[in-house]
Amino acid sequence: MVITIDGPSGVGKSTVTRRVAAARGVDYLDTGSMYRAATVAALRAGVPLDDPVAVTDVIERSDIRYVDGVILLNGEDVSDDVRTDEVTGAVSAVSAIPAVRHRLVEFQRAWVTERGGNAVVEGRDIGTVVFPDAPAKIFLTARPEVRSARRAGDAEAANLSAETIETKMRERDRQDSTRAVSPLAAADDAIIIDTSDLSLGEVVESVLEVVAHARC
Ligand code: DC
Repeated sequence: MVITIDGPSGVGKSTVTRRVAAARGVDYLDTGSMYRAATVAALRAGVPLDDPVAVTDVIERSDIRYVDGVILLNGEDVSDDVRTDEVTGAVSAVSAIPAVRHRLVEFQRAWVTERGGNAVVEGRDIGTVVFPDAPAKIFLTARPEVRSARRAGDAEAANLSAETIETKMRERDRQDSTRAVSPLAAADDAIIIDTSDLSLGEVVESVLEVVAHARC
């Protein structure tokens, strides 16, 4: 069964995804790290990020893979490189390019097929576009102040003031939610869980409950 976990940043998606995958004994795919690796490739190539043709050309020549929780760009482990503030600031522009999304979505579907259709996949458009027929769809939310406080604990947010974190987070959400192709959105049949006042364990429990009641 494919379990989709979507939502904006700072809702605890990554940690919840890993826990749910462990509880189910299946692999997880962090699709955000793929868009981040695409951004690293574009930045390294030095192409203007507002030039979709140039960015797409770089991505089409790049080998982006996700293996055992590690994101690889042309065979290099870029797990740390994808978490820099520079990449976080640039990723929304790269992920808004339709051809980039098309290529990465193909990879995401093939990755799940290789695992017999059993996986937990996290992102922004997984329940709406990548796996619209998934039987268990979760959309995580949290109040803005809770989300920015959580972001403050992330590596790429180190050295940034609380105000800067909140401003950057809101801007990235705005870009991710308003782009023309596959914007951040809850699928009509997704179960929405507000994580603001829940512990990590409680969120994981809620997700597993949704999964237990899912049609297979
Ligand atoms: O989850 P994250 O913060 O690592 O995601 C990084 C960016 O990638 C996010 O700003 C939007 C984009 N993204 C996307 O467009 N579609 C996805 N399925 C996952 C992430």
